[in-house]
Amino acid sequence: MPFRIHSHANGSHTLVDEENGQAMHSRIGPRLEANLVYAARARIEERLSAAPDYTLYDVGLGTGSNVTATLDRIRATPAARGRLRIFSFETKPDGLGAALANLGDFPELADWAGPLEDLFRKSAADFRVGDVDVEWRLLVGDFYARMSEAPPPDDLFFDFYSPKIVPELWSYSAFARIREKIGERDARLFTYSAATPVRVHLFAAGFFVGAGVSTGVKSETTIAATRPGLLESPLSKEWLRKLETSASVAGPRFDELKIRVLNHPQWKLHSAN
Ligand SMILES: C[S@@+](CC[C@H](N)C(=O)[O-])C[C@H]1O[C@@H](n2cnc3c(N)ncnc32)[C@H](O)[C@@H]1O
Repeated sequence: MPFRIHSHANGSHTLVDEENGQAMHSRIGPRLEANLVYAARARIEERLSAAPDYTLYDVGLGTGSNVTATLDRIRATPAARGRLRIFSFETKPDGLGAALANLGDFPELADWAGPLEDLFRKSAADFRVGDVDVEWRLLVGDFYARMSEAPPPDDLFFDFYSPKIVPELWSYSAFARIREKIGERDARLFTYSAATPVRVHLFAAGFFVGAGVSTGVKSETTIAATRPGLLESPLSKEWLRKLETSASVAGPRFDELKIRVLNHPQWKLHSAN
């Protein structure tokens, strides 16, 4: 199997990709991470109640934990209704296959085993959760190559391996492509990384950027949005000091990107408030 199961001290499990040695989840495990960083922050179940047609990009499907944590919340919310379209992107869907073959280690997936099996075998799962029609599609291959096949998103769960390992997936030009895809819509991007270069690239690509909660492993995570009103905790000007002090931000285009960040409308909003 190209994936091996790794046990965490808290009793949870994750998959390690044998090819690159990367674990899919931090030591808090898939379910806690999925809730803290993605499902409980995005509260898609509330959005569905208010605007009943929603498109979610699940970028880096892995075991499907981020989506199934969201489905759990929808199931527990009777007011949720309408249509949820989910587009999961994944280069190695065998990770999902490995999780499905070891449901004892991923018990929180068990309730959704039917849709997950459909997704794994047919790249499509259509089902109902309460009053919500879910259309879940798997686009196998590189996210940036296949993104054009999906309609623009309302939310993105952005969960690639670390930006230190795959910086090209977290680059300025990568986020600029996502920002362009979103266009005039309201949209949010949730990710576990709070790395300064990641936030620089998000700002430079035109997103407003805020802090997400601590996971215990990360003291902060990140939520980016197309409008400041979509953020609960927008970064304040204090954060700009990181541009001076963080050695990690240096890069070939840093001077150009820094000017974009310093001129970002987020800082004007703060001084106006
Ligand atoms: C951190 S794991 C995601 C964990 C997952 N969200 C979950 O709920 O279990 C990152 C995933 O991104 C996938 N991946 C890596 N590069 C990719 C790319 N360019 N496009 C799409 N998926 C990619 C990996 O194969 C891996 O499954």
